[in-house]
Amino acid sequence: MTLASTGLSIHDLGVRYGRRDVLRELSAGPLPRGEITALLGPNGSGKSTLLRTLAGLAKPSAGTLTLDGAPLALGVASARSHSVVYLPQALPAGVRLQVLESVLVAARAGRDPALRSHTSAQVLAAAHDALERLDIGALANRSLDELSGGQRQLVGIAQALVREPQVLLLDEPLSALDLNHQYQVMAVLREVTRERGIATVVVLHDINAALRACDRAMLLHDGRIAHFGIPAEVVTPASLAEVFGVRARIEPCSRGFHQVLIDGLADRKGPASRQ
Ligand SMILES: Nc1ncnc2c1ncn2[C@@H]1O[C@H](COP(=O)(O)OP(=O)(O)OP(=O)(O)O)[C@@H](O)[C@H]1O
Ligand SMILES: [Mg+2]
Repeated sequence: MTLASTGLSIHDLGVRYGRRDVLRELSAGPLPRGEITALLGPNGSGKSTLLRTLAGLAKPSAGTLTLDGAPLALGVASARSHSVVYLPQALPAGVRLQVLESVLVAARAGRDPALRSHTSAQVLAAAHDALERLDIGALANRSLDELSGGQRQLVGIAQALVREPQVLLLDEPLSALDLNHQYQVMAVLREVTRERGIATVVVLHDINAALRACDRAMLLHDGRIAHFGIPAEVVTPASLAEVFGVRARIEPCSRGFHQVLIDGLADRKGPASRQ
């Protein structure tokens, strides 16, 4: 099987909270290995719910998920925890571990037999490598509960990378980061996604980061996939008006990327204000 033919596929997925359908008839894929898919959409559109469902933490009411054509056991987080790694939108607070220790714990928590057979020296080297790649090597001996929000977020990303996932799910990993670290994290994600053939899905609110650094974009709207494809093809003034309710221009920048500029609000109300 080539890299292009493998990845994560979603078939007719539905998720309910109580009696309310939050995700409906979602089908997409494959989200290929070696590529980053940006998951975009308004507040309340279902991005975190989709990521939690892919991670096995929310139980779908319908549908199936497959990785490289084989079913992922739905609703059973432990069955897939060795291959699917998920970084939540809100990170746990009040953890007293040191940074390096916490990354080592994360590496050891990987259930992949290949990872478990690594020696302590290999795991330690991988933990240091993850911290260095994210430019937080100097924090190795600090306590997690003494870090800033952005530093804590970078450690969370290091913990995710060191588990050597096959599917990497990151919910708003840039939300607390400065410009430098936003850029750096996307660059590292691109590198490891390609090097290790990971199917990576990243929830972003920064559409320009999706245009610059992601291979695919999925636009969620009211619990459905409104658009899915190459970012520059699916992020258009029409799709931004439809999904986000904004009047937008998309201008080429001198580096050849496209850049979204918002001129105002389109004549509609967003889903967050309707629900
Ligand atoms: N535990 C829950 N119980 C009931 N409803 C929920 C629960 N979690 C989320 N919802 C609802 O499901 C919908 C989708 O929420 P979700 O958190 O997936 O949105 P999101 O796209 O991640 O939004 P944001 O950009 O604000 O993080 C929202 O209407 C939300 O109110
Ligand atoms: Mg969310």
